Amino acid sequence: MHLPNLKEAKIRSNKEVKYLEASNIKSDKFKNKRYFLKTYGCQMNVHDSEEIKGILGNLGFSETNTLEESDIVVLNTCAIRENAHDKVFGFLGRVKHLKREKKDLIVCVGGCMTQQESVATLLKEKYPFVNIVFGTHNINDLGKLILDANNKQEIEVYSIEGNVYEGMDYVRDSKYSAWVNIMYGCDKFCTYCIVPYTRGKQRSRKIEEIIREVKELKKQGYQEITLLGQNVNAYGKDLKEGYDFATLLTKTAEIGIPRIRFVTSHPWDFTDEMIDIIAKYDNVMPYIHLPLQSGSTNILRLMGRRYTKEEYLTLYNKIKERVPNVSITTDIIVGFPNESEEDFNETLEVVNNCKFDGAFTFIYSPREGTPASKIKDSVDIKIKEKRLQILNEKINEYSLMHNKEYLDKIEKVLIIGHSEKGLNKMCGYTETMKLVNVDGAIDDIGKIIDVKITATKSFSLDGEKVIKVNN
Ligand code: 5AD
Ligand code: SF4
Repeated sequence: MHLPNLKEAKIRSNKEVKYLEASNIKSDKFKNKRYFLKTYGCQMNVHDSEEIKGILGNLGFSETNTLEESDIVVLNTCAIRENAHDKVFGFLGRVKHLKREKKDLIVCVGGCMTQQESVATLLKEKYPFVNIVFGTHNINDLGKLILDANNKQEIEVYSIEGNVYEGMDYVRDSKYSAWVNIMYGCDKFCTYCIVPYTRGKQRSRKIEEIIREVKELKKQGYQEITLLGQNVNAYGKDLKEGYDFATLLTKTAEIGIPRIRFVTSHPWDFTDEMIDIIAKYDNVMPYIHLPLQSGSTNILRLMGRRYTKEEYLTLYNKIKERVPNVSITTDIIVGFPNESEEDFNETLEVVNNCKFDGAFTFIYSPREGTPASKIKDSVDIKIKEKRLQILNEKINEYSLMHNKEYLDKIEKVLIIGHSEKGLNKMCGYTETMKLVNVDGAIDDIGKIIDVKITATKSFSLDGEKVIKVNN
């Protein structure tokens, strides 16, 4: 048994990262058995789940969306805010009932939450029906843990970051749009954020391996890839080779996949060269997610974000000037400890200045072990909720304003599947990452088609396929 230890995780390991081949253990022990996998949290977790699906598939399992039908349940958890935590424990209640009826059910809990010592301890003491507890650094070992599972609980979570594995057998959720990990972990240590503890120090993948994966995806017909990392702009800073994100973006663009995206960007590591490359290549999409977090320089300093309000605005304006038609979205936290009315108004001022295309907004949630969680906070939750509401109204106003600019325009849309808006409607994304519900595109899943925008809303656009007439 290996219990994670937050203090241990805080001490950066000087151990050199090893680049290894994934184990991809194959067995037919679980042929005809089914897995139920539930993923919480960010795109990184979604992509980790594609790896978990690969591991489960290699052991003979097939997927079911019905919990009651499953022989193994895997929860891939998130620790970023308290509510993610509550959802997982709520769901475990349902799993406990099922386990009473199905004694052989294998229950696995992994992901960011289990990297917290307190969670692993809680699972050990109060949730003995959970068979396997694994973390973010040892997903590669999950196959072996499952093959060895017995009725005792096995906790195998490493505190110090793991190695980088290549050649994983992913089962990707889409045949048209793929996630490509370019790095693991984060070295920024924003004071409110749990990620550097749960995912460890930054480890970039070797550029050759990323390029190999992208070329393979192109061969398989993928129309879009999204380069994935907690802070993609810092790509390569931990490698001896001297590569940076600008080099990676150039090399990836030249492979010729129709659409290249990347998340998430940190303003501090965003260079002019990166902006030029985004502007230069038509297949690098004009869409950037650029978290602001706060508009107050005071709060930004307390958050450890390494930029001022003015520096953010300068970068924002530079991107807007140099990348034609760019759409920029952001993340904002309200109610950081002791955020004053004045601080909050500065956030609103930046929002009014930037008029973001969209934003994810959050009330600050203290995370165990982070520096910000030790700050005593005097601001009432009611005030924080009010600030969130005011902020959301502004964000929605600008989102709608941008969407209205699309009316009657013809946009290139990658159709990804059926729309929730009706049986005959399909949906997809513009180059600028606007969701479009499209009439008359039934056979176009996986294709980039021209769509005329016929109506605009706050969170989506409606459109119809442009039928090309051959003369
Ligand atoms: N409380 C609230 N929001 C947080 N985020 C990260 N940590 C916290 C926290 N402790 C938000 C940030 C980040 C996004 C992924 O989640 O805005 O960019
Ligand atoms: Fe967290 Fe900051 Fe790293 Fe983003 S850049 S993952 S907010 S520590």
